[in-house]
Amino acid sequence: MPARLPQDTPVMVIGAGTMGSGIAHVAARTGHPTVLLDLDAAALDRGRASIEKDLAFLRDKGRLTPEAHDATLARLRLSSELADAGPCALVIEAIVEDVAVKRRLFAQLEALVADDAILASNTSSISITELAAGLAHPGRVAGMHFFNPAPRMALVEIVAGLVTDAAVVDTLHSTALAWGKTPVIAQSTPGFVVNRVARPYYAENLRTLTEHACDAATLDALLREAGGFAMGPCELLDLIGLDVNLMVTKSVFGALGFDGRYAPSLIQEELVRSGRLGRKSGHGFFSYAPQSPKPVPRTAAPEAVVARVTAPHRVGGLEALVDRLAAAGIEIRRVPREESAHLQIGDARVELS
Ligand code: NAI
Repeated sequence: MPARLPQDTPVMVIGAGTMGSGIAHVAARTGHPTVLLDLDAAALDRGRASIEKDLAFLRDKGRLTPEAHDATLARLRLSSELADAGPCALVIEAIVEDVAVKRRLFAQLEALVADDAILASNTSSISITELAAGLAHPGRVAGMHFFNPAPRMALVEIVAGLVTDAAVVDTLHSTALAWGKTPVIAQSTPGFVVNRVARPYYAENLRTLTEHACDAATLDALLREAGGFAMGPCELLDLIGLDVNLMVTKSVFGALGFDGRYAPSLIQEELVRSGRLGRKSGHGFFSYAPQSPKPVPRTAAPEAVVARVTAPHRVGGLEALVDRLAAAGIEIRRVPREESAHLQIGDARVELS
C-alpha cells in the first residue's frame, strides 16, 4: 500500500465555497495543518462559519470529542495569499469551474510549491489532462473529486489525466482512504464516472418540468418516495448550486460533442440568469428564506375507501382480486352469474366477458 500523505503535512484548499470549505474541514479534522484560501474575504468568512457550524453539530451529537473539535479549528487557517501554498505538499483547488481560471491558478502554484507537491483539482468535469498541459511537472496534477457535502459524502473520484504519475494517483487514493473516504480511481473522460451518469439524470428531470409534467416539489417527492433517492433532483440542484451545476453540464455537453442527451436546460439557465442559484443565494427552485413554507407536492385527494363489492359467482381470473378485497375486510356480496355479469367496486364497474 503506497504511503498516504503524512498526517502532519500542510494542505492548502483553494476556494472557500460550498466544496472548498467542506474539503478543508475533512483535511483539518484528519490532522493536517490546513490553509483555506479565497480571494473574496466574505467567502472566507462564510467558509469558516460553515466549518464551525458543522464541527459544532458533530461535537453536540457526540460524534467528535470537544478536544478534537478544538484541535480541528486550531489546525485551520484562512488566507488570501497564494504564497502560503509554499510549504504545502498537497494543494486542492475548488474554485470556479472554468478551465482558463483553473489553469492560470496551477501555473501560479507551480512557481510556489516544491517540485514533488501534488496539485489536485476538485473539478466535476474539466479534463485533468488539459489542466496539466503546459506545466513544468504535469505528472503531479490529478483530480480529487469530492461530493457535496464533502464532510459527509464518502465517495471521492481520484482522476488520472493522460500524463498523471501513477505514484500521485496512489498517494491520493491512500490519503482519501486515511481521510475516511471511499476513493475510486477514474480516468479523465468527460464527467469522469459520476457526472457522466448524473448529467442525463438531471436533464431528464428538468425536461419533465419544461414539459409541465408536474411541478418541482412533486417531481422531488416522486423521486424520493417512489424512486428511493435520498433527495429529489430539484432540492439536490439547489444544494449543489444551479450555476455550478450548469457550468458542469455545459462542460460535459461540449466534451461529448454536443450530444443532445447532455444539453443544458432552459429552466436552469433562466434560474441562473435571475440570480436564483439555490441555497447559497437563498432561492433556487425553492425559497430558503427564514419562515419559507416547505414545498408541498401536488397529490390527488385520497378516494373514499370502498365498503362493499358486488361480485357474481365464478369471476375467473378476478377471483384472486375478490379474495384480496375480502381479506382487506371489504364486504363481498355474491350474486348469481345470471343476474350480473360485472364486478361493482364502489362507483367503478368492471364488465366480465
Ligand atoms: P462556489 O461557487 O461555492 O465556490 C467557489 C469559490 O472559489 C468562491 O468562494 C470564489 O470566491 C472562489 N474563487 C474563484 N476563483 C478563485 C481564485 N482564482 N482563487 C481563489 N478563490 C477563487 O463553488 P463550489 O460549488 O464550491 O465548486 C467549486 C468546484 O468544485 C468547481 O470546480 C465545481 O465544479 C466543483 N464541485 C462542486 C460540487 C457542488 O456540489 N457544488 C460537487 C463537486 C465538485
